[in-house]
Amino acid sequence: MMINKRLIRMAPDSKKHIGRNILLQMLSLTANIVIMFVLGFLIQGLVAGTVQNRDFMVATLLMLVALVLKIVCTRKAIYQSYMASKSVKRILREKIYQKLLKLGSSYSEKVSTAEVVQASVEGVEQLEIYFGSYLPQFFYSLLAPVVLFAVLAPISFVSALVLFLCVPLIPLSIILVQKFAKRLLAKYWGQYVKLGNSFLENLQGLTTLKIYQSDEYKHQEMNKEAEHFRRITMKVLTMQLNSITIMDWIAYGGAALGIIMAVREFAAGHIGVMGCFVIIMLSADFFLPLRLLGSFFHVAMNGMAASEKIFRLLDLPEDEVQSGIIEDTNIVLRNLSYSYDNQRTVVRQVSMEIPATGFTAIVGESGCGKSTIAGILSGENRQYTGSAQIGSLELNSVNQTNLKENITLIGIRSYIFKGTVRENLLMARPEATEAEMWAALAKVNLADFLKTENGLETVLTEKGENFSGGQKQRLAVARALLHDSQIYIFDEATSNIDVESENDILQLLHELAKDKSIVLISHRLANVVKADRIYVMANGDLKESGRHEDLLQKQAVYANLWNAQMNLEKYRGGIIHETADCN
Ligand SMILES: Nc1ncnc2c1ncn2[C@@H]1O[C@H](COP(=O)(O)OP(=O)(O)O)[C@@H](O)[C@H]1O
Ligand SMILES: [Mg+2]
Repeated sequence: MMINKRLIRMAPDSKKHIGRNILLQMLSLTANIVIMFVLGFLIQGLVAGTVQNRDFMVATLLMLVALVLKIVCTRKAIYQSYMASKSVKRILREKIYQKLLKLGSSYSEKVSTAEVVQASVEGVEQLEIYFGSYLPQFFYSLLAPVVLFAVLAPISFVSALVLFLCVPLIPLSIILVQKFAKRLLAKYWGQYVKLGNSFLENLQGLTTLKIYQSDEYKHQEMNKEAEHFRRITMKVLTMQLNSITIMDWIAYGGAALGIIMAVREFAAGHIGVMGCFVIIMLSADFFLPLRLLGSFFHVAMNGMAASEKIFRLLDLPEDEVQSGIIEDTNIVLRNLSYSYDNQRTVVRQVSMEIPATGFTAIVGESGCGKSTIAGILSGENRQYTGSAQIGSLELNSVNQTNLKENITLIGIRSYIFKGTVRENLLMARPEATEAEMWAALAKVNLADFLKTENGLETVLTEKGENFSGGQKQRLAVARALLHDSQIYIFDEATSNIDVESENDILQLLHELAKDKSIVLISHRLANVVKADRIYVMANGDLKESGRHEDLLQKQAVYANLWNAQMNLEKYRGGIIHETADCN
């Protein structure tokens, strides 16, 4: 498979540029042939002593014109190949982007982020060479030997035939190498994606790795993978270099054979000086286009491997557009289960009720499945079993846009974008007025601080390093308030921030819960004491539910967790008091 029809169909625009590129290269070849004939004619004339001044002038002029034509054509051909690859790059990236939009926020259930990034960045770059260089060269290198044969055969049929017959040896060697290369390249890409995957995963989980001090172990693991990747890359490069050497042998060997034939014909008196000169000068041109094709070939093969990845992404089944529109925001979960990998169930047979107003808490130790439930509620985890109903609708049948209008998820580290406070707020509601924005900021106690700064125009640096963690989270909550949905899910949104900010936000949430549904997910039980209902999870199971006092009385999972946390805080408090005493 040297030409991928689907790829070409995908970028119909590039066909035109590829055609022009081939035409320009043919013109350039013609100019070259003319130059050689004129030179041959001159030399023959010089040898025979028959050249006159006028011949010399005409020949020089002709050669100059041909030379200029050759230069212009070569330059234009390069421009056309740039145009061909440019449109391909744009079309492919656009298609990948559209596909991701169609897959929606649950895309990661079907394809890993690392794979998407690699397909749309490196994958597309490599296809650029496929369209810009490989494809035009493919057709040109088929045409060039035919034209040269037609030109040289009348001069010396034997020489032309020998040259012509040697040409197919180059593609033959390419095909042989390809057989070997295909397996190697598949391995290469596999390792590449694997490395990318673990790199991204380790980056995303860096905080966790640091906390558990397992970053050193991961470091070594990644070094091992990188070393493996280096070795396979070297193998690919060696293979490419070897195959280029083979092609060089064929190209120059073939040309030499043609030249020997021409000289013998000359010695036998069958052809003249001009004929001999032209054959000698043009024999390499039989092979050079294919030789160049061969050097593009490996990059093109990389592009093909990349295109398979891109097609895999583009061919992922899309969920049919969900049409459900939410009318009633009471949520009821019944025997809800979820698995990320279809092997380990991380949420098991969970039943919960989350009324349209009020303060619902989900607690439990890290890894018990809280965030997974948040993902189901917010439409990211859609392949659940059991039922998760909002009003009379199953959550995974709700129209995505409609779901986002009704449910706002605020995570542990909300993403604050580079730009002004205003820009970050308007993201949630583009039509929000100045007064609405200030009201939201006042609710999270950020208004006073911002007034001492630059107001709504206060600039946040990338990821907002110039705001404290608490201030960033306050801003994120203000943004969520502007979004004005009926349901808010706060997933550990107050972890890792200062106590004052945490208390402010909690107070606000209780206020909001009077006419909104607030779901607070937290591993810190002190945050949920006043909740209307608390669901206690452990290891994927729902263990208990009720209000704080009821749960304490049960003296089971919640009570144990509570006691453990209280002891820990007393202990920490003690340390603080002791140090305070020392001062
Ligand atoms: N994207 C994911 N892919 C695979 N496993 C995951 C993913 N996210 C979470 N898990 C696993 O699912 C389990 C529950 O995780 P999670 O819901 O995040 O717990 P919690 O929020 O309670 O800490 C954990 O064992 C975790 O390792
Ligand atoms: Mg979590």
